[in-house]
Amino acid sequence: MAPKLFPEGFLWGTAISSFQAEMGRGEPASASDWWTWVHDAVNISGGRVSGELPEDGPGFWELYPGDLRLAKEELGNNAVRLSIDWARIFPASTEAVEVDVKKNGSGNISGIVVDEEAMRGLEDLADVTAVRRYREILSEARRLRLKVMLTLFHWPLPAWLHDAVACRDDVANAGRKGWLDEATLVEFAKYAAYAGRRFGDLVDLWATVNETRIASEYAYLRGEFPPGLRDFDLFMTAYRNLSAAHGFGYEQLKRWAPSSGGGGTKVGVVAVLQYYEPENPDDPRDVAAANFNEYLWNEWSLNAVTSGDYDMDLDGVAGPGERLPHLAKGCDFIGVNHYLRQRVRHGESRLGEHLKGGDCSDIGWEIHPQGLRLVLDWVWRRYRLPVYVTENGIADASDSKRVRYLLGYLDELHRAVSEDGVPVRGYFHWTLMDSYEWNRGFGTRFGLYCVDAATKERVPTRTVPVYREICSSNSLP
Ligand code: FCB
Repeated sequence: MAPKLFPEGFLWGTAISSFQAEMGRGEPASASDWWTWVHDAVNISGGRVSGELPEDGPGFWELYPGDLRLAKEELGNNAVRLSIDWARIFPASTEAVEVDVKKNGSGNISGIVVDEEAMRGLEDLADVTAVRRYREILSEARRLRLKVMLTLFHWPLPAWLHDAVACRDDVANAGRKGWLDEATLVEFAKYAAYAGRRFGDLVDLWATVNETRIASEYAYLRGEFPPGLRDFDLFMTAYRNLSAAHGFGYEQLKRWAPSSGGGGTKVGVVAVLQYYEPENPDDPRDVAAANFNEYLWNEWSLNAVTSGDYDMDLDGVAGPGERLPHLAKGCDFIGVNHYLRQRVRHGESRLGEHLKGGDCSDIGWEIHPQGLRLVLDWVWRRYRLPVYVTENGIADASDSKRVRYLLGYLDELHRAVSEDGVPVRGYFHWTLMDSYEWNRGFGTRFGLYCVDAATKERVPTRTVPVYREICSSNSLP
């Protein structure tokens, strides 16, 4: 059989995030809400977090030269997806830096202008050591000819913007409310402007926000991420603000980030799109529940980002007060994080129940490669923007399912490109090496390399030679 070729210039890489991968060697990143959250005694004793700590992580902050070399030389990658830690760059508040904030008739923020003087104020506040290190990391990637996708917000917020413990205990009276507060958008715009200016010459693709959905759902509905609440209205507020953050970040990056190649700075958003399937396709109640999951989790925020449709009452249409086209400032590509199929049965709520079982990863995520092709087809049909698969991978400590997982999902990706015409431009496997899996800690092993906790040695899984062959031949066997 002829090999299945991918388009020329296809990006092959892995994805890591700063909070999960950086710590373990060198200066810890201790100025964020996530840092406070995972060290909090009440969260640990209550089982909200694992008790394992990010400062025992793989240590990318110091060990990045070796890791990027593995990506390039052992994995044959030509790209890497990284994120930067907002709180490392601005450990103290940027609120005093003046920018022009425009509001619309209903008092909501509609525009943010960061000028040269504000940029000088931000320069004064930025932590030079952190900025220098990020530039070193990005320069090393460039030296190795790895194209870089850089994510601005992969979840930790500076603690000066979010007092997660105070919010957990009494959100109404807490002072710093993170994404519940529209003012966070203003600080995000400043951070985006500054990051664009300082790192733009070393970045090929920018991603504003990683998974608006998980960032708000796990924080305000599931009670697992900071600030650990369960309140649907708060969830919708955060979901709204995180979706709007994309637009403000986009605008600033377009203004401040020098384009590192030809064709202008490219800025996208990263959405997690799982595949929702009705348990019984002949039961209209199951179908309705699956459709509502798809609408709320996959579609809602992308509608907001791409058109400014903020369907706050979730009736399926953006009514007059919900149409905010001025917040849709642009989106050059959609990053798709995809992991699993979710089978849905109707139940008490509109979302129904999520069924467990099937062929699963260590954390119960159902392996279903066809789902990737279906969500890629859907996202292209619906939004007509170029797509990158920005995360896909499996928690598999015994290293028994990862090769099959990778080959299965890539086969479906290839079909989406070659048979369905979806313009997928790259694939980033989650993740390069085992890292700190948020509230779950280190037991959840997504890495292509295992990490020896004591020595930090990177030990290849069985997938490494398989992925290398695919990346270096730009084809599937
Ligand atoms: C995604 C996150 C990433 C990692 C994987 C397993 O939702 O973006 O940081 O936790 O899941």
